[in-house]
Amino acid sequence: MTSLSCAIRDCLLTGDKRGKVFATRKLVRDWRQGKLDFTFDCAMPQRPEWPENLDLRLPRDMPRRGKGGSEKGRIALWHALAHIEFVAIDLALDMAGRFGESMGQGFVSDFLSVAADEAMHFALLERKLDSLGSTYGALPAHDGLWSAAQDTAHDVAARLAIVPMVLEARGLDVTPATLERVRAQGDENGAKILKRILDDEIRHVAFGSKHFREICSARGENPPESWQKLVKTHFSGGLKPPFNDSARSAAGLSRDFYAGIV
Ligand SMILES: [Fe+2]
Ligand SMILES: [Fe+2]
Repeated sequence: MTSLSCAIRDCLLTGDKRGKVFATRKLVRDWRQGKLDFTFDCAMPQRPEWPENLDLRLPRDMPRRGKGGSEKGRIALWHALAHIEFVAIDLALDMAGRFGESMGQGFVSDFLSVAADEAMHFALLERKLDSLGSTYGALPAHDGLWSAAQDTAHDVAARLAIVPMVLEARGLDVTPATLERVRAQGDENGAKILKRILDDEIRHVAFGSKHFREICSARGENPPESWQKLVKTHFSGGLKPPFNDSARSAAGLSRDFYAGIV
């Protein structure tokens, strides 16, 4: 049998955009069908492979998106979202491959299902870009997202605190307004894609908070307090209200986590 960790590593090291989606779907199918051995003989790479020629820039060097209603503005929006989902595939894969051995098979199943969702989200957004005459890789993309993974590679609690519970939770806050804007522009298909993403992301944040709480209880720590400490150490951006309290609480992220931190 193929080793789970080596199969995950192969997906992370697939740079081609469609190749990564295809490889991730196959990996998740193989895992669900019991075709992968729960062994951790392959180390995860420091950085995954991304499409060649992707123009990665620091967030401050990203071109301004302009007004949302223009064709150019719309393409920039879908491109930015496609990039977030593309990186999210690797964040979920790395979570399962890096921490799966200590966290167990249920954890791996949860985060591989997240990886499959992210691959689907990316594929939907890439199709959207194609329909607008563009493609993923046509515009610059920001390089801030993977640094969250590198900063937290040493500790699964820190990784869970930052990736699902800060970054993906931020998606819950901002997506409803984007969805309404897109719908107001008459783009019902775009609104549907965002609704699908929003629903799935609640589940992703919920996996994060579930496993985070389990770790805290094993370590005898108070979950909101320990989360706040980790966020202060590993997330320099600061949390920005307004928060989508109902989506956050559906994902197990109650106000006592983030109320005291802003
Ligand atoms: Fe996603
Ligand atoms: Fe997600």
